[in-house]
Amino acid sequence: MHYVVEPSALASGVVTVPGDKSISHRALILGGIAKGRTNISGFLPGEDCLATLAALKAMGVRIERPGDTRVIMEGCGADGLRAPSGPLDMGNSGTAMRLFAGLLSGQSFSSRLIGDASLSQRPMSRIIEPLTLMGAQIDSSAGKPPLLISGERSLSGIAYQLPVASAQVKSAILLAGLFADGEITVIEPATTRDHTERMLRTMGVEIRSGETQIVMPGGQSLTGADVSVPADLSSAAFIILATLLATDCEVTLVGVGVNPTRTGVIDILREMGAAISLDNVRLFGEEPVADIVVHSTELHGIEVDPARVSLAIDEFPLLFIAAAMAVGKTTFSGIGELRVKESDRIATMAAGLRALGIEVDETPDGAVVHGGVISGGSVKSGGDHRIAMSFAVAATRAGWPVRIEDTAAVDTSFPGFVQCLQSLGIGINSFDDDIGVSA
Ligand code: S3P
Repeated sequence: MHYVVEPSALASGVVTVPGDKSISHRALILGGIAKGRTNISGFLPGEDCLATLAALKAMGVRIERPGDTRVIMEGCGADGLRAPSGPLDMGNSGTAMRLFAGLLSGQSFSSRLIGDASLSQRPMSRIIEPLTLMGAQIDSSAGKPPLLISGERSLSGIAYQLPVASAQVKSAILLAGLFADGEITVIEPATTRDHTERMLRTMGVEIRSGETQIVMPGGQSLTGADVSVPADLSSAAFIILATLLATDCEVTLVGVGVNPTRTGVIDILREMGAAISLDNVRLFGEEPVADIVVHSTELHGIEVDPARVSLAIDEFPLLFIAAAMAVGKTTFSGIGELRVKESDRIATMAAGLRALGIEVDETPDGAVVHGGVISGGSVKSGGDHRIAMSFAVAATRAGWPVRIEDTAAVDTSFPGFVQCLQSLGIGINSFDDDIGVSA
C-alpha cells in the first residue's frame, strides 16, 4: 500500500478520532482476567488491539463484538486462562507482546509469543530481566522475539528501578505482580503513561502511585467494569498538526484522552506557538478527557525539553514535521528510545525529511531539524504507522504531491485515517500496490 497526498487547504470542522490504543489493550487484558463482565465502548478496532483480543480468545476468554467499537467480555478470573493451542501472534504490537509476557509469566501453562518482522527486531531484554528476577522463565532469540514463557513458576514481589522510562515494562511487571507473592515496587527514571495503574484501580485493585514510584501488593484479583475508552491523543495529534499548519482553520477534536502522562505533545506544540485549548474537561472513569480546539498558527523552532520526552514518546515523528515547518531550528535530545520503536524513527524521519528538501542533523539520541520549505517527491515510511501519517500531514503543505511508501501499518493504530483527512478536504488517496486506488 502507498499514499499519494496533494498539497491541500484544510477545512474547519469537528472530528472524532478512534479510541486510545494503550487503553484498549489494557481494558481487554485486564477484563480478560477479571471476575465478571467487562463492557468496553470506544474500543480501537486497530490491528494491534485485535491481536490482543485474538490472543485472549485463544486462551478461553469469551468475547463478543456487538459493534466495531464495542466489546463485551466475560473475564476468566485470576486462574481461568487456559493454554492456547498454538503460538500467540502479537503482530506489530510491542505493547501486546510486553504486557502479555508479564501476564503469562504467572500462568500454569507455557506459551509462545511471536510477532511480525518489525516486532521480531525489538528489544525484549527490558522485560525479561525484571520478570526473571520475579521468578519467571522466558527464553528468547538473543533478547528478541519469539518469547517462550514457561508455566508453573511461582513469582515473588520485586522492587525494581527501570533502566529505561517505559510504560510497557512497568505494566509487564504489574501484570506479573497480580500473580506474585509479596509487594511490587516500580521506580521510573521519568513519568510514563499510567493507564495500567488507572485501569487496575477501576477494576478494584489496590495500587498506590506517586510521580515515579508505584507500589502494589501482589496477588490481587480484579472485578470486571464498564470502560469508556477516550479518543487517542496520539491519533488526534496528526489532525492537530494539520490544523496548525493550515491557513485560518479551526478544528475541534471531540472526547480525546488528556491524561497528563500523555499530553507532552500539546505542551511542546504550545511552546512552539500553537493555539490549542482544552474545552469541556471531564472524566471517563479514571481517565481525563477533553474536546481539543485548535487554530492555525505559525510555529517557531525551540529546544525541546528532554524532561518532556516520556510524556510525548509516540509523537516525535510528528514533532519532526512541526519542526520542519517552523521558523528557525528545533533541537531534539534524549530521544534515543525512538531508535527501537516500530522503526528507527530518528533515522527514518531524517531520511524522509531530507528527501523532501529539509536539512536535518542527526545525533545518536536526537536531531536538529532546520525549518524550511517542503518540496514534493517520495518518502519511505519504513512500514511504521506513525511515520506514514506524519508525512501525510507534511504533504498537505508541500510544493507538489508526495508519495508515501509502505502505509499498510496505519491500520494498527488509526483505521480510517485516509477518510478522516479526506473529510477535512485533504487530497489523500491510498493505493494497493497491485490493484490501484483502495480508499
Ligand atoms: C505504550 C508505551 C510506549 C509507547 C507505545 C505504547 C503502552 O512504549 O511508545 O506506543 O501502551 O504502554 P514504551 O513503554 O516502550 O515507551
